[in-house]
Amino acid sequence: MKYPSQKIALWYFAIAMALFAVQILAGAVLGYIYVQPNFLSVVAPFNIIRMLHTNALIVWLLLGFFGAAYYLIPEETERDIQSPALAYLQLAILVLGTLGAVLTYVFHLFEGNPILGQQGREFLEQPLWVKIGIVAAALIFLYNITMTVLKGRKTAVANVLLIGLWGIALFFLFALYNPKNLSIDKLYWWYVVHIWVEGVWELVMASILAFLMLKLTGIDREVVDKWIYAIVALSLFTGLLGTGHHYYWIGTPGYWQWIGSIFSALEIVPFFAMVVFAFMMVWKGGRDHPNKAAILWALGSTVLAFFGAGVWGFMHTLAPINYYTHGTQVTAAHAHLAFFGAYVSMNLAMITYAMPYLRKSEPYNQILNMASFWLMASAMAFMTFTLTFAGILQTHLQRVMGQSYMEVQDQLALFYWMRLGAGLVFIIGALMFLYATFGPKRVRA
Ligand code: HEM
Ligand code: HEM
Ligand SMILES: [Fe+2]
Repeated sequence: MKYPSQKIALWYFAIAMALFAVQILAGAVLGYIYVQPNFLSVVAPFNIIRMLHTNALIVWLLLGFFGAAYYLIPEETERDIQSPALAYLQLAILVLGTLGAVLTYVFHLFEGNPILGQQGREFLEQPLWVKIGIVAAALIFLYNITMTVLKGRKTAVANVLLIGLWGIALFFLFALYNPKNLSIDKLYWWYVVHIWVEGVWELVMASILAFLMLKLTGIDREVVDKWIYAIVALSLFTGLLGTGHHYYWIGTPGYWQWIGSIFSALEIVPFFAMVVFAFMMVWKGGRDHPNKAAILWALGSTVLAFFGAGVWGFMHTLAPINYYTHGTQVTAAHAHLAFFGAYVSMNLAMITYAMPYLRKSEPYNQILNMASFWLMASAMAFMTFTLTFAGILQTHLQRVMGQSYMEVQDQLALFYWMRLGAGLVFIIGALMFLYATFGPKRVRA
């Protein structure tokens, strides 16, 4: 760690990991409710736990990105963060907002109140005051990072990260717009939900990946720059109009079936480019970096993202297929592997890389960390397979044979038990990761 202000990242990573733990525990409860539907049905019903699971995920991934920015921007720009105090203020606002959202939902506070009460739009459930807090935190963050970049050395990695972070904030603004007409509501709702993960977050992913490749493989910056610009162009070219794959059945004109199908099918290309990029850099790079676990997470992230987002996304993205699979377990299968591969794994790669420096140590607990990668990755792959089989069966019984929703759910119980099993194994892997990075560091003899 060359710059004192990089230390800010430690706090962001620590809180991100605490929320990661909350997220996957909530996931396990959801998986259990799927097979024992009355579990907790009075105190904490499925919809509330589901909100915790998805929102904890989004918030911790964002905290991880912010932490990554606070860690890598000083190294890229060769200067300290503009204002560490503002960075901690930003963190405090985000923590307060998160607690506020959780308490509002768990205790049904201010029900019906447009500013203080819950909002119930999937992924954007936060009460309005929390959303405004998020915007305030984002503005503080953008000021802090932008000023640092403007005053420092200019690199492609920093520029792309900055564009991605600005994009995150700009597209979040659509969360504040909640029109009465359901079709128009959905139209803009996807600006956040789709354009984040299939647009601007990809830029953040690409820049973190590029930073890790520079550090871990010792490859030339010029080579990395060319790749990263190509990946950015491909992501935006495909991802923006790819939003159309959510406009097939919400009351929009029929041409969206063509636009959505064509552009979203191409979305697989930037994810494939990231796989090729990462493997080429590791293969060609001359450096023998001791943090092998960070290399494993970075490579693994590109591969799992390619399968989860690219392949599993393509599987149901063409309108004639989506007509049948829309909103089935096929979607849940894709959602899990895509989020895990792209954003969870890239965050864990960055944390694995940065933690030894933040804790002033040589890379430590490498074997345990790598074992946690394989355990989490295989558990998530298994979960994806069980949900995919469940989804295909569901599609056939429900959408082709015309059986009723609950009649079909009963027949999928075996898959749901297997998903629960995979989830529990995943949690063991995650605990191993947390111990490997935040637990006692092992000093080499
Ligand atoms: C880091 C790992 C995980 C990620 C990234 C993740 C992500 C997600 C996402 C994005 C959704 C919403 C899916 C959709 O709208 O289609 C979801 C729902 C869900 N997740 Fe996870 N999850 C993870 C771990 C787990 C674990 C360990 C379990 C345990 C079994 C689990 C069980 C569930 C269940 C049961 C749902 C609700 C599905 C439904 O509404 O039908 N998740 N998760
Ligand atoms: C890392 C990137 C990605 C993430 C994190 C992600 C995540 C998700 C999530 C959470 C949903 C469920 C949304 C909801 O209904 O609440 C979803 C839906 C969908 N995704 Fe992705 N996705 C990614 C990339 C892709 C790509 C590249 C494609 C196409 C090649 C794709 C195709 C789809 C389609 C077609 C749906 C709608 C499914 C339905 O009709 O039920 N996704 N995605
Ligand atoms: Fe999408």
